[in-house]
Amino acid sequence: MIFETILGWWSRDLGIDLGTANTLVYVRNEGIVLSEPSVVAVDKESRRVVAVGRRAKEMLGRTNFRLEAIRPLQSGVIANFDMAEAMLTHFVHRCHRRRYAVAPRMVIAVPSGITEVEERAVYNSAERAGARKVYLIPEPKAAAIGAGLDITEPTASMVVDIGGGTAEVAVLSLADIVASQSIRTAGDAMDRAIIHHVRDAHQLLIGEPTAERVKIEIGCARPLQQEMVLEVMGRDTVKGRPRVAQVSSEEVRLALAEPIQKIVAAVHTTLQQTEPELSADLVRRGMVLCGGGALLSGLGQLLEEETGLPVHIPEDPLSCVARGTGVFLENLDRFLSPFAVGPIA
Ligand SMILES: Nc1ncnc2c1ncn2[C@@H]1O[C@H](COP(=O)(O)OP(=O)(O)OP(=O)(O)O)[C@@H](O)[C@H]1O
Ligand SMILES: [Mg+2]
Repeated sequence: MIFETILGWWSRDLGIDLGTANTLVYVRNEGIVLSEPSVVAVDKESRRVVAVGRRAKEMLGRTNFRLEAIRPLQSGVIANFDMAEAMLTHFVHRCHRRRYAVAPRMVIAVPSGITEVEERAVYNSAERAGARKVYLIPEPKAAAIGAGLDITEPTASMVVDIGGGTAEVAVLSLADIVASQSIRTAGDAMDRAIIHHVRDAHQLLIGEPTAERVKIEIGCARPLQQEMVLEVMGRDTVKGRPRVAQVSSEEVRLALAEPIQKIVAAVHTTLQQTEPELSADLVRRGMVLCGGGALLSGLGQLLEEETGLPVHIPEDPLSCVARGTGVFLENLDRFLSPFAVGPIA
């Protein structure tokens, strides 16, 4: 253990938020050094990786007969092991320069509802990407720490993390998750709801990147004071020709109602599972809303109305989990020391 601590002085350790939509890497003593979409573009025949991250995302839905853009994670877990490994290896190499002779330790955040097999896939990918040691930490815990909550207190903290593939709701007390829900309805499900709505209401087929743009630009969980309209382009479902349609924020709100309702239901279920004494803490402390979904207009307000609890959105909700893995990293030596008090994860 002491040997491990000494090695730690020389290694450039990494904290990783391996997300369905975005991967963020935190380097010990430096902060977040990488934030890229979790997308890999490959040559269909040779399976050679052509692009990773932002450049690969630009190719989503636009690839030709030779190239394919793949999202290796679905619903928060690894769906394509080879591509996940290739992506992680690429990102790790970008952050871990060769002059560091000692292989890095990696703290990786994983969804709380993950199975053992899914956990093993993350573990193996990280080892093959060059990790000397891998520590997995539940995403809600990392998110809470990253949002600046002191989860080691005997009072309750609540986190709602709405990512691309999963929405994670958790109540924490004394550094443990005491009630939680992890559902596979989040940003991607919202994009799909928009695709279905535009197809049915406007007879227009649009791709995922366009649906995501509609969500980000005019999507809302509550009616906007001033309705907005966005011009979207796609393919006519009947004539097969390219065409433009005018989509309003109000119709997008209605299209998003179903996935949003599922997330609200997960919040209610978690609150119902929470011990009364801890519930009392939440009345005062409220919940932290993070992940990319926290940026959806009106979502925080809707959750306040639905639960009666205050909702806090941190300054950069997209990086909470990565910052949380960073706090873990910074304290890893303390936790690994023979004099450490209590477990870390
Ligand atoms: N302004 C915005 N309004 C609504 N949604 C947004 C906004 N900005 C980003 N998003 C959505 O947030 C999601 C990405 O969030 P995030 O990076 O937290 O997910 P992730 O951590 O990769 O996924 P997961 O945690 O499910 O594995 C995407 O679905 C994206 O479309
Ligand atoms: Mg996430």
